[in-house]
Amino acid sequence: MKMLLSIGGASGSIYGIRILEELKKAGMEVHLTISTGAKKIITYETNFEFEKLKNIADYYYENDDLFSGPASGSFYLDGMIVSPCSMKTLSAIANGYSDTLTSRVASCCLKEKRKLILVIRETPIDIPGIKNMLSASESGAVILPAMPGFYHKPKKIDDLVDFIVGKTLDQFKINNSLYSKWK
Ligand SMILES: Cc1cc2nc3c(=O)[nH]c(=O)nc-3n(C[C@H](O)[C@H](O)[C@H](O)COP(=O)(O)O)c2cc1C
Repeated sequence: MKMLLSIGGASGSIYGIRILEELKKAGMEVHLTISTGAKKIITYETNFEFEKLKNIADYYYENDDLFSGPASGSFYLDGMIVSPCSMKTLSAIANGYSDTLTSRVASCCLKEKRKLILVIRETPIDIPGIKNMLSASESGAVILPAMPGFYHKPKKIDDLVDFIVGKTLDQFKINNSLYSKWK
């Protein structure tokens, strides 16, 4: 499968980093973009270096590169994940405002009826955010809030992160045992 992963500038860049690692482990072809804000947040919140992350992916694009392949609907992708997704990028996607590679690829996914997962992270959520979630969902996106469950009895932060990573991979039917499923 050919996927585009966008790591956005919400808190929780670890969600995007772990998804990148797991997509590669599962043998996916990963096209990666990282927003300007996310580059700084990755450094602030994690021990990962942006330059090293670029090398894990098969292809990397700057988020303002609207001339790149994935910016066109004719560039085939099986789907796209924005993780974490800021309220700003959710708004751009919900309203078809394609000013970044992330929002443009998301718009292509919606028009081509391809899977689009938005791992939003914000709390509490204002009315524009709630309306944008509804609007993006009505357009075909899956709103997958970075909101872990606790029924798998998490012991450490990694368990909480992996719950969201597993739920994200489940959307593409990628087999994983990142969290224990309810039996
Ligand atoms: C440390 C830090 C944490 C942030 N966390 C969030 C967040 O959790 N959710 C959110 O919507 N915005 C958050 N923001 C604000 C976004 O980074 C900002 O709105 C930015 O314009 C998002 O753009 P992007 O989606 O293109 O990265 C945060 C900013 C900083 C500096």
